[in-house]
Amino acid sequence: MNRVILGIETTCDDTGIGVLYKNKIVSNKIISSFEKFKNYGGVVPEIAARSHEENLLPTFVAALKKANINEKDITHIAYANQPGLPGCLHVGKVFAKTLSFTLNVPLIPVNHLYSHIFSASINQNEFQYPALGLVVSGGHTSIYLVNSPIDIILLDETLDDAIGEVYDKVGRALGLSYPAGPLIDKMFDENLANSIKFLSSENTHVAFSYSGIKTAVLNYINKNKLTNIINIASSFQFLIINDFIKRVKKHIQNHSVKLIALGGGVSANSYLRKQLNNLNLPVLLPQMEFTNDNGAMHSHYANILLDVQ
Ligand code: KG4
Ligand code: ZN
Repeated sequence: MNRVILGIETTCDDTGIGVLYKNKIVSNKIISSFEKFKNYGGVVPEIAARSHEENLLPTFVAALKKANINEKDITHIAYANQPGLPGCLHVGKVFAKTLSFTLNVPLIPVNHLYSHIFSASINQNEFQYPALGLVVSGGHTSIYLVNSPIDIILLDETLDDAIGEVYDKVGRALGLSYPAGPLIDKMFDENLANSIKFLSSENTHVAFSYSGIKTAVLNYINKNKLTNIINIASSFQFLIINDFIKRVKKHIQNHSVKLIALGGGVSANSYLRKQLNNLNLPVLLPQMEFTNDNGAMHSHYANILLDVQ
């Protein structure tokens, strides 16, 4: 029997429903509530949770329509059960459980971050193990050793801000709307990447932390007139991405991995993609459609889990 796996995403501000049929993603619908947070500079959990409650049904209907599938054809329901904003996770879980009960099909809870890692293989080459899995998003910056789809070891994670969060905070100080990551990336000019030195000396910290870079950039913005936004954006992106690449290189030296897989919202970043491709290892980069939070990646990872069980 062909699996028809519905994937439900409600961990943050994107309500996502994906459908996998015959091992392929056949639809991936997202209704985002990010517009509601433009004036806040970040996600307001209570508003995000209420938005999921409003958006789940229309997203579900649109996803089935696009996939040309009737709800009775669904064989499995996958949903992200952690990590994420508690209220948002709860709304997704109730929707998933209700569907699973009504349609009498199994429920597959999946880890949001593991789905991001495996999103890199949707419509692309197969994974090779062991792999280094990199999750870079607004909420997480984590590095994993992926020995198999069910043997995933956390090697490293930031002590404080995630990379996406720093992009959003710097962007806010620059007067950009949320989420600022894509806007800063668009402004990036590699020729201007060294035009501002935010740190007085080479960044030699051992802790995996971006609060130092964040504070240095915010201090610069507070002290200087904003006449050179492109220089600030370019120098900031250069600094933070290369700091992350340094960390990745350290783990490549310590573990003989065959592949690097990247996932999460910041995986859309053009300079990060470029720098990873320079590391002399095969790199799996997710298609743009699967970089932000989405339901399809949960359908895809659930399908991989069913294959190994
Ligand atoms: O994975 P995601 O959709 O949601 C979380 O689980 O956090 O990631 C959203 C984050 C935001 O912080 C956004 O600014 C960042 O991803 N982002 C980017 C880019 N596109 C999205 N950051 C840097 N460069 C980009 N091109
Ligand atoms: Zn995410």
